[in-house]
This record gives sequence, C-alpha cells and structure tokens, in this order.
Amino acid sequence: MDLAQKILKLKKEKKAVILAHNYQRPEVQDIADYIGDSIELSRKAVEEKDAKMIVFSAVDFMAESASILNPDKKVLLPCLGARCPMAQMLTVDEIKRAKVQYPNAPVVLYVNTLASCKAHCDICCTSANAVEVIKSLDSETILFGPDKNLAEYVSEKTGKKLLPIPENGFCPTHLLFQPEDVTVLKMQHPDATVMVHPECSNEMRKEADFIGSTSKMCRYAKDSSSNSFIVGTEEGILHRLRNESPEKNFYLAYEGAICPNMKLTTLDRLYSALKEEKYVVRVPEAVAKKARASLERMFEV
Ligand code: 13P
Ligand code: SF4
Repeated sequence: MDLAQKILKLKKEKKAVILAHNYQRPEVQDIADYIGDSIELSRKAVEEKDAKMIVFSAVDFMAESASILNPDKKVLLPCLGARCPMAQMLTVDEIKRAKVQYPNAPVVLYVNTLASCKAHCDICCTSANAVEVIKSLDSETILFGPDKNLAEYVSEKTGKKLLPIPENGFCPTHLLFQPEDVTVLKMQHPDATVMVHPECSNEMRKEADFIGSTSKMCRYAKDSSSNSFIVGTEEGILHRLRNESPEKNFYLAYEGAICPNMKLTTLDRLYSALKEEKYVVRVPEAVAKKARASLERMFEV
C-alpha cells in the first residue's frame, strides 16, 4: 500500500474527514474529502455529522474555528507550526484599546485571527462574505482587523469607514504581488483575465477584472468565457484551477507567492496525525463560547 492508500484506510477506520484549504499541496488536495476556502471548510466541519474526527489540512485559525464550531469532535492540525502570520498580528489588548477609543464602533474580525480575539468581536467575516457582513451592520464606522487591505477593499465596496486594527495588518504572501509583474504578464497574454484575492494591495486590486475569495476565483474561472487567467493569490490554488478547467491556462502573477505555513502539511504528516491522533486543537470553553457566537452571527448573514 502506498502512503495515500494507507491514509484513506486509516481515515475510514477512524471515521475521520479530511478538509483541505485551496492552498494545500496537490497531493494533499487529492486525498481530501473536501477542498475549499475558509467559509466553505467551516461549514463542512459543521455539516459532517457522522465524522468522529476532523483532520484540518490548513493553518491554525481554520482548525481552531472548526474546533469551536464542533466541541464534540476531535479536530486535528497535522503540523503544529502551521500558523498564519497575519492572525498573529492582532492581540486582545489591541482590540480592547480600540474599543476604548471608539466605544460605539462594532468590531468585525476576519476569521484569520486567534480564537481569543474572536471572543472579543461582534461578528466575524471571511474574504467571501466581508462585504455582506459590513453591509448588514447598522453603523457607518466599524473597527476591522487584522487585514488592512481587506478593510480598504470592503470600505470601497460599502462606502463605510473601516478603522484598521492593528494599524497595518497584512498577509506576507499576498504582499509579494506587484502590479509591474501583471503588466509584463498582460503583454505576454493580452487576452488573459486578472483575478486577485482581496488580501492583495490596492495597486494590485486596481489591475483586477475579478476580486474574490479563493473558491470564488475557482468558480469564476470555471464559468468565465475567458481561456486564460493571471492569478493573484497563493500558488496552491493552481492545482484546483487546472483540475477544474483543464482546457484553460493559468499564470501565477508572481511565481514566488507561496505561503510556507500552508505547505507544512505533507502526506507523511497527515498520516502520522491520523495514526497518532495529533495535534488536537482545543479552545477553552469560556473563549470558545464567545468566539462561537461571533462565528454564528457571520453564518446568519
Ligand atoms: P480564503 O477564505 O479566500 O480561502 O482565504 C484564506 C486565506 O488565508 C487567504 O490567504
Ligand atoms: Fe495567512 Fe496569508 Fe498564509 Fe493566508 S496566505 S494563511 S493569510 S499567511
């Protein structure tokens, strides 16, 4: 039996479900039960009623959210070091300070945050629903963190004032994209459609024909009449894009756009995680209860 077959056998024996983010390694995506963006994977984690265990092939905050939403299931993160640096950029103290300064502004947090921070916000959002979440609030001034680029994008879309917490939170991988690279690629592929993630800079977003979450990009590429695409997000997404639209061409806007944390999950680590049932992600119930409320408010929107 090869490693992939061993994983599938163990998965069945342990009644586990494997969820993989769109940025995961191709071989990990291929073995997963579901591939998706952060909102889709959170939903899947809740829908999988028969599963006893969820193996979350992604980064810390996604596994934490799955654990918060499924307190009765064992949630495993195959590599403990898989931590989203953007999520580490916001602290509870920073939220508390902002609340003192703007006591009437609701706090909206991107899911790329730690559970302890989610416990201090009014509602969460993902890149797929941030515009709808902000529109749903009865307030024109909103504290938003930790991604400043997403805050700017949502502000442009809704006309509302989004105050970033911290002042300059960002994704180090999406920061690597530069509009000059898109200019060169457009010269080489003049008919290509440009798709970018809202975590990209304002300059990159200006180059885009389509802006959306990772799964929204996949659906857009599949449904579009265009045959070639310049892609402004992490390179792992190319595997899914090419699988779903094998006849189309996809060019990464910057070849080095790799999230090292997303790549920490290998098949070896996935196998060990299932075999030894590690690393269990658990959030203390006092924090989980409040964080769950913020996530559930998001699902209502
Ligand atoms: P998506 O929800 O669009 O998949 O984004 C998650 C993420 O971490 C992007 O960097
Ligand atoms: Fe975090 Fe950026 Fe990696 Fe997404 S791509 S997990 S935001 S560091």
